[in-house]
Amino acid sequence: MKSLMRRLLRVSNRSILAFIFLFSLSSSCLYFIYVAPGIANTYLFMVQAQGIMLRDNVKTIGHMIRQYTNKNATLNGTDFPDGTNSTEFTAQSSMYLPENFTFSPNLPCPEKLPFMRGPTSINMSEIGLEDAYQLLSQETEIGRGGHWKPNDCIPRWKVAILIPFRNRHEHLPILFRHLIPMLQKQRLEFAFYVIEQAGTQTFNRAMLFNIGFKEAMKDRKWDCVIFHDVDHIPENDRNYYGCGEMPRHFAAKLDKYMYILPYDEFFGGVSGLTVEQFKKINGFPNAFWGWGGEDDDLWNRVHYSGYNVSRPEGDIGKYKSIPHHHRGEVQFLGRYKLLRYSKERQYLDGLSNLIYAPNIIIKHLYKNITVHLVPELAPVKDY
Ligand SMILES: *[C@@H]1O[C@H](CO)[C@@H](O)[C@H](O)[C@H]1NC(C)=O
Ligand SMILES: *[C@@H]1O[C@H](CO)[C@@H](O)[C@H](O)[C@H]1NC(C)=O
Ligand SMILES: *[C@@H]1O[C@H](CO)[C@@H](O)[C@H](O)[C@H]1NC(C)=O
Ligand SMILES: *[C@@H]1O[C@H](CO)[C@@H](O)[C@H](O)[C@H]1NC(C)=O
Ligand SMILES: *[C@@H]1O[C@H](CO)[C@@H](O)[C@H](O)[C@H]1NC(C)=O
Ligand SMILES: *[C@@H]1O[C@H](CO)[C@@H](O)[C@H](O)[C@H]1NC(C)=O
Ligand SMILES: *[C@@H]1O[C@H](CO)[C@@H](O)[C@H](O)[C@H]1NC(C)=O
Repeated sequence: MKSLMRRLLRVSNRSILAFIFLFSLSSSCLYFIYVAPGIANTYLFMVQAQGIMLRDNVKTIGHMIRQYTNKNATLNGTDFPDGTNSTEFTAQSSMYLPENFTFSPNLPCPEKLPFMRGPTSINMSEIGLEDAYQLLSQETEIGRGGHWKPNDCIPRWKVAILIPFRNRHEHLPILFRHLIPMLQKQRLEFAFYVIEQAGTQTFNRAMLFNIGFKEAMKDRKWDCVIFHDVDHIPENDRNYYGCGEMPRHFAAKLDKYMYILPYDEFFGGVSGLTVEQFKKINGFPNAFWGWGGEDDDLWNRVHYSGYNVSRPEGDIGKYKSIPHHHRGEVQFLGRYKLLRYSKERQYLDGLSNLIYAPNIIIKHLYKNITVHLVPELAPVKDY
């Protein structure tokens, strides 16, 4: 309790606003901070992020966040992972295979391929879906639903990329335009599933992911699933979209958060789990309507099931967000209450209690899975 008070006091030193915000959210949040200290950071970060938007005083706030997180990120993109120095970083980079490496069609593709050169150029200009398809299928054929696999080696992972969607039609081609070349360089087998929410309910990112997962499993023997926001563009092609022993958080450094991990338990944006891992944790919770919280719950589920989360090192985990107005995004304030009962709800609400009727259209670059979402699709008996 004492260290909790110290924590809160430290917070108040940095930002009176955060302090007021904390206590304005009812007394139950004290209990909550006690059971899940990481969430205190969520509050703090939300306040700070709001500050960035409101005041547009990026330098000052950025400095504050840097002090708070005690990290030495430069806005130049020259930062290195904590505890490592530049020589170590370059040594690691040189472990990528040489340009003249020859593939064998009968052997698994290596993970560190020569064409993965690091930072990539990003083109945010709007482009039509059909134009993007023409552009991308110039050099190599892309199958229906955006399916592709390498033919010069055996792909190490078969990756289903799930993209929850509503009202962001201009974002999809921008994402494909950057992701597809990257995944091809990484010699992964992949396809895209765009899960669109119909109806008038607030957005439910997590339920869309669960539905996308179930539909993808009917298609093919995927072994790795990536949960990808439509507006997150990877900036480094060494961010390998394969899975691993541990669930992975790919989007470790977002430009909108000044390339700083907002809090240790942050699991939003882009994450990936093996099919086995995702089934074991019972998928995402279905009960999070509106913006926020479902990724924190996923973090809890992952840890309650005995996993840790891995992240790419240094600059590899950098992402740019496609700029947009937050139209129709409703914050989900009930999330703090739900997060309190993360553990109790894990096996009651998730992949296990979901009934839905999708409308499916197969397009050139993705499979369109449209679902009308209502809370009744995920009944929970009692908790
Ligand atoms: C941050 O970087 C500056 C200059 O590169 C250095 O002087 C300073 O000691 C670093 N701070 C920490 C906490 O590593
Ligand atoms: C940013 O990079 C430029 C050139 O790469 C360098 O001259 C400058 O000192 C860097 N700024 C910081 C703050 O690191
Ligand atoms: C950088 O890292 C290498 C390997 O870990 C170490 O030998 C070297 O002393 C480090 N250099 C500095 C300046 O910290
Ligand atoms: C590939 O290139 C490296 C140096 O870049 C060279 O040492 C090696 O002999 C080359 N291998 C082949 C098979 O050409
Ligand atoms: C960005 O994409 C647009 C549309 O495809 C294209 O006209 C433009 O030349 C591209 N810009 C760069 C810098 O590649
Ligand atoms: C997860 O991390 C914790 C703390 O770093 C460690 O004690 C634990 O053994 C790790 N669990 C696994 C499954 O690696
Ligand atoms: C998906 O299909 C629905 C019709 O079922 C359509 O209204 C919607 O625009 C499509 N979305 C995308 C992203 O293709």
